Amino acid sequence: MDERTIFERAVLDGAFRVLITREELEKRIQELGRAITKDYRGKDPIVIGILNGCFVFIADLVRTIELDLEIDFLKISSYGDAQVSSGQVTMLKDVNAEIGGRHVLVVEDIVDTGVSLKYLEERLQALNPASLKFVTLLYKKEKAKIHFDIDYVGFEIPDEFVIGYGLDHKQILRNLPAIYVMD
Ligand code: IMP
Ligand code: MG
Repeated sequence: MDERTIFERAVLDGAFRVLITREELEKRIQELGRAITKDYRGKDPIVIGILNGCFVFIADLVRTIELDLEIDFLKISSYGDAQVSSGQVTMLKDVNAEIGGRHVLVVEDIVDTGVSLKYLEERLQALNPASLKFVTLLYKKEKAKIHFDIDYVGFEIPDEFVIGYGLDHKQILRNLPAIYVMD
């Protein structure tokens, strides 16, 4: 019997295929940070991370943004432990910060069906922000059905289930340092 963890098998045996390397992530996030710094100069945005998946990306992203920004989090659930979206979004933790009149930048790990993003757009728009923009590290563009453009996209990816760099499979493997495809 194989007593190694799934993490060990993923990394050592190449059980999962690397889709985006650490170096590629770092380079692209620098670019996003530069663009956001430029676009929000003088606006002091509030950056809202969508838990849990965003936690690695947002930590790296905000350290490339040279502005007086605030950070808050909200937590929603649309998947449970399944690999397919349930189509139902539940708010698990709302934002604490005052959103009205603020420049809001929402940080997502991945946009898959687009259901979560649509829900967030409606919910946050209703709080009358001065502006509302979205940044996602990964975007399954072919699959997602959203009626607006995403402002900042790290990588467009094919419709495959990915893990690592914050993204989980049944709540584990978020600590993989790169993005892998789970075949
Ligand atoms: P959507 O509402 O279908 O766009 O999916 C949103 C959420 O589902 C993301 O924020 C992720 O937390 C999760 N998710 C979607 N695709 C994947 C994937 O390929 N791997 C891991 N999590 C995913
Ligand atoms: Mg998420």
